Amino acid sequence: FRTLDDVDVKGKRVLLRVDLNVPMDSGKVTDATRLERVAPTITELSGKGAKVILLAHFGRPKGRDDKNSLKPVAAALAEVIKKPVGFAEDCVGEPAAKAIAAMADGDILCLENTRFHPEEEKNDPAFVEKLAELGDIWVNDAFSAAHRAHATTEGLGHKLPAYAGRTMQAELVALNKALEAPVKPVIAIVGGAKVSSKIDLLENLVTKVQALVIGGGMANTFLHAQGVKVGKSLCEKDLAETALRIMNKAEAANCAIILPVDATVAYHFEANAPSFAYGLDAIPPDSMILDVGPRSIERIHAAIDDAATLVWNGPVGAFELTPFDKGTVEAAKHAAKRTKAGKLVSVAGGGDTVAALNHAGVADDFTYISTAGGAFLEWMEGKPLPGVEVLRVK
Ligand code: 3PG
Repeated sequence: FRTLDDVDVKGKRVLLRVDLNVPMDSGKVTDATRLERVAPTITELSGKGAKVILLAHFGRPKGRDDKNSLKPVAAALAEVIKKPVGFAEDCVGEPAAKAIAAMADGDILCLENTRFHPEEEKNDPAFVEKLAELGDIWVNDAFSAAHRAHATTEGLGHKLPAYAGRTMQAELVALNKALEAPVKPVIAIVGGAKVSSKIDLLENLVTKVQALVIGGGMANTFLHAQGVKVGKSLCEKDLAETALRIMNKAEAANCAIILPVDATVAYHFEANAPSFAYGLDAIPPDSMILDVGPRSIERIHAAIDDAATLVWNGPVGAFELTPFDKGTVEAAKHAAKRTKAGKLVSVAGGGDTVAALNHAGVADDFTYISTAGGAFLEWMEGKPLPGVEVLRVK
């Protein structure tokens, strides 16, 4: 990959693809992590005298609509980077061209939501051409949108000299250390509600890691497949055969599958509902498994102790409700402790995972936490990401 070390950006119009798809509530950004992540690239480019033109999508609009405008996000970004961020009402045409022509070296300008044009998601060549006219080079700093082959995440890479931004670089280095060229043994922890959304991911992981902990609602499907009576727990019974197939594949690849050996159950899915630990042969028929049990937590700790590298995706219990956050919190703390002691490289990402690790208070102690959702999952599935592939120097 070419990076910002390989280009003199002074005076250049840099089209910088970032991921500004942050959670918002009543016009306010509720989690600025993604803005903080892109700050170093923006600050560096601006400091080197580039004209920094931000391209990003927001939400999944069907055409232009006020509620998906990037304007309030651009304002929040300005606060994070402590520099003014200009705004243009469209990402192509007059508004964009005019605003860019008025930029001085070092200025930062955010263009309106690229998805207001359906051509963005279609990776339409004429649209890519229009965008390319606005810049001299393209820098992709949006790993978390790199699973999309859209005009601004992929198309521009074929039209302009392409470089990886600092966040993209950090992400690729961390991910490489986790699965492509890891220190072995590697353990993966995969949780979340459903097996159905993670079949490809599990199938890929069992060929790459030496141990795979399965937790969360999806573990119930595996337990059911092995004949455990899981009561009223979330369970995709129709996927029992898939679960067995994954287990067989793991065995053939010498990957140890670590399933819960006990469970924390409750009769109602609500915060502070009375909870009970049961062995797998004694789950009450009218109860639900909401977290791994205490013996399972010990097993997970022991498995982490045996590993040199950890890749984590998805909580192992219903972490959003106490006390069902215990398994996730304890495992996260244990991994953080091993990481701090220099004994573990720990990489986590995808959907709820960052929220779960923040909740455990250990996010800063992991080696790397990706803010990517879907892109992290596709990477774990072993799929090439278009926004990364286009950066490879041919
Ligand atoms: C994300 O939030 O994961 C990325 O910005 C991609 O968004 P999308 O799933 O709407 O393409």
